[in-house]
Amino acid sequence: MSVAHGIRTLGVLGSGQMGTGIALVSALRAKVPVLVHDRSPEQVKKGLALVDKLLAKDVSKGRLTTEDAKDAKDRISVVDELKGLRDVDMVVEAVSESLPLKQKIFASFASELKPEAILATNTSSISITKIAASAIPTGISAASEEGQKIASRVVGLHFFNPVPVMKLVELISALQTSEETLSCARAFAVACGKEVTTSKDVPGFVSNALLMPFINEAIMHLEKGIATREDIDTTLKLGMNHPMGPLQLADFIGLDTCLAIQKTLYEGTGDSKYRPSVLLERMVDAQWYGRKNGKGFYDYD
Ligand code: CAA
Repeated sequence: MSVAHGIRTLGVLGSGQMGTGIALVSALRAKVPVLVHDRSPEQVKKGLALVDKLLAKDVSKGRLTTEDAKDAKDRISVVDELKGLRDVDMVVEAVSESLPLKQKIFASFASELKPEAILATNTSSISITKIAASAIPTGISAASEEGQKIASRVVGLHFFNPVPVMKLVELISALQTSEETLSCARAFAVACGKEVTTSKDVPGFVSNALLMPFINEAIMHLEKGIATREDIDTTLKLGMNHPMGPLQLADFIGLDTCLAIQKTLYEGTGDSKYRPSVLLERMVDAQWYGRKNGKGFYDYD
């Protein structure tokens, strides 16, 4: 087994669609033991059921032996408390796209994890530099050697949904991230079977700074009645060979997540091209979040 990344055990925080996918590729491809923590036991149960389903599909398609599937599943365990992650070499945080929530979590790492652990965030748009600053405990100056050392272990490791299928990981360096942290995170993503691109720490990085205006423009086309949702999606799907139309993709990502990313882009740049459409705001007000809860631009079972 390649250990160029030096990660002997991984922690994953959050067992939604992203956290579960990250746990699966880490156990199956990088072959590392993975400890998953989520504050919701129901969410963990759902995540583990998805892991079972995806592994069983790979076995039924002849891409994986029953034994390899079992080994991968056995590498994944659940811990009830954050302190259960105290021995991991790297943690990947994959909770909701909320800065205060991420700051709270990163602030707790200093007392819960070992001091040399790499602290990766799967955020899709939030400043990695801000998240890194929140990992420094109160009382330690961010400018001190100790403060800089703590923040140097924070890195952006942005996976794409569905994680087992999408080939990319976007690697983002905070102002404070060390070269050692970056190269370890990159090697780990490669061990998970991913191609890695790098982006500066700007709102939305490369991926969402380009994707979100596209999705938002599609929503505004719908809002203005320029075309039906089906015609907008079919135009992009068949006319540009996209796997999904932009409204389907927004539902797939989650409308609440799209709105959170768009707000980060708009607030972080002040550029009106990133202003979320009123229709998207209203759909999230209505708690229509897309596929994850059954209603978005389309209805799902
Ligand atoms: N988890 C794991 N695997 C999944 C899955 C999921 N949620 N959904 C679909 N798949 C797998 C299927 O099991 C199937 O695998 P096999 O080939 O091994 O059987 C494969 O994907 C293809 O699925 P389907 O045949 O059912 O359907 P499809 O051909 O329409 O593909 C899709 C589905 C892969 C999701 C495809 O539509 C697609 O690529 N869509 C675009 C996805 C995309 O753009 N993702 C990035 C979103 S942005 C993001 O994630 C980052 C962010 O910051 C917001």
